[in-house]
Amino acid sequence: MKQILFKHLAVALLALLPLSLMAMPKGITMSHSGEMNTILQFEPTSRYLILPIEEAAPEAYIRIVVDGVQVGTFNARLAADSIDYVVPFDMQPYMGMNIVLDIHFPLYHYNKKHPYNKSVVCPDRRKFICWDEMQLSDRFVVHNKEQWRSTYHHTPLYGWMNDPNGMYYDALTGLWHLYYQFNPYGSRWGNMNWGHCISADLIHWTEQGVAVGADALGTIFSGSCVIDKRGDAGFGKNAVIALYTGADQSQKQSMAYSVDGGKTFRKYALNPVLCDTIADFRDPKVIWNAKRGCWTMVLACQQEMRFYSSSDLKSWTYDSRFGEGYGNHGGVWECPDFIEMPVEGKNESKWVLLCNINPGGPFGGSATQYFVGDWDGTTFTCMDSKKEQKWLDYGKDHYATVTWHNAPQNRVVALGWMSNWQYANEVPTKQFRSQNTIARDLSLYVDDKGEYRVGVRPSVEVMRAKGESVRTLGAEAIVEVKCPAGKSNTVITLENDKGEKVVMTYNFKKKTFSMDRHKSGRVSFSKQFPATTTVPLFMNQDTYTLTLFIDRCSIEAFDGNGAWSMTNLVFPTKPYNKVSVSNGDYTIYKLKL
Ligand code: FRU
Repeated sequence: MKQILFKHLAVALLALLPLSLMAMPKGITMSHSGEMNTILQFEPTSRYLILPIEEAAPEAYIRIVVDGVQVGTFNARLAADSIDYVVPFDMQPYMGMNIVLDIHFPLYHYNKKHPYNKSVVCPDRRKFICWDEMQLSDRFVVHNKEQWRSTYHHTPLYGWMNDPNGMYYDALTGLWHLYYQFNPYGSRWGNMNWGHCISADLIHWTEQGVAVGADALGTIFSGSCVIDKRGDAGFGKNAVIALYTGADQSQKQSMAYSVDGGKTFRKYALNPVLCDTIADFRDPKVIWNAKRGCWTMVLACQQEMRFYSSSDLKSWTYDSRFGEGYGNHGGVWECPDFIEMPVEGKNESKWVLLCNINPGGPFGGSATQYFVGDWDGTTFTCMDSKKEQKWLDYGKDHYATVTWHNAPQNRVVALGWMSNWQYANEVPTKQFRSQNTIARDLSLYVDDKGEYRVGVRPSVEVMRAKGESVRTLGAEAIVEVKCPAGKSNTVITLENDKGEKVVMTYNFKKKTFSMDRHKSGRVSFSKQFPATTTVPLFMNQDTYTLTLFIDRCSIEAFDGNGAWSMTNLVFPTKPYNKVSVSNGDYTIYKLKL
């Protein structure tokens, strides 16, 4: 009997021991509860709790509890064996309160191969490295030092980014607002909400923090903003109204509004504003419908776009749908945009429906297709042949492209997410993942065959960053190439000292331009990354001009006449420092940053 008692006592003491040995920051009490639940209790004494992340670890589900009430949740890949980077848990809203982080590790993930076999031993979470390295701090340091961190493309300071969202131009302040799909708790997709940044020149961006955060109706997926000049929604004149998708088990459209110039948003109390029974029901793009004097919402619904209208931005009526039988249907239609554009050299305008699609892109994975047609304010009538597939960009890394609301001089200024869902989560950066394209101005022209096409040019703001010409290529540069259309091809090569190279070819016989990144540097992180992308030369010319925007991990090629663009990521282990052009001239320009 005595022996049994002793044994129980020893087991109880042993169970307590690891707790007292843990190196948690002072003031935080940690308790391990049940099989996979760990609880941290503390009063925040500094702004951030720094969380160590291991990308290979499964996501732990974390509930933030204040006074017994769950005030938020997020997922984080808390480091078990090794630390890839850290992320901050911002405790500003909880200062002066007691806070409980209720962490649930996903048992089934650790037991992936034998999810229901209880005899498989899970790692002992009490020994996870995250507990040793968690820190309370008033500072979260973002060293902008990773070799593939773009210098003149927008990147998130840290964490994951995908689609640009809610972009609008504020004519009073001259600021371009850019919101974006953001995960502040890791550099892989998850915990979606809208990050926010502003720019006066479309090159330098100032981060503003999370603008629209997840709530009890779900995480915040993509959407758009409009300036409600008349106050139709009831939140005052010039309120900024965001329509976005709330995503949990279902996808539904919700509204948030800002009365402080887009900095902070409040949710509309009677969200959601639009529901349906279909699973893929998202990414509302709202525009002013001048034909009917109301608002129109275009929504991506599986493989079609639906149109709804409203007088107050809250109550939406179904108008029409478009998509069946048209264009590419290799994947889900996402992130629409709908723009009226004048046709260059003609006295007419047409409507362009942007339709991001994933997968189904011409080179695999994600891409932006578009349709040209007419709109009577209710129904879109496409003038393209049903078989025609038109792409806004002919590279592999151009997705979720949408345009700025209220851009000056009626310009159509677009921005795309410079990645591809095939490997976006795998690209070899760490503290952040993904970057946006440079801003581009869209136009509409008629090509040699009489086909209406969307033209693409680097925005004037970006061109202003073009500095003096230099002799050697640097990690960021603009390269202009001029070559005669001849019998032989023109080959343009960017190369570094390690022999890593990108080879671009004008094939005048086939009338194509292509970019080959098979040997561009680091390519092995995904089988789908090595690729050659090709665009038809839509306009016959005697001399072709090409503008290349080179940054730390990207090449954007623009036809000098705005006929097409091609956007590809590259990860050279050293920057390309040589250019050669087999048949033609080139000039290298520095960037004034
Ligand atoms: C497109 C997309 C959108 C969705 C968002 C979620 O890349 O899938 O359809 O709203 O990403 O992050």
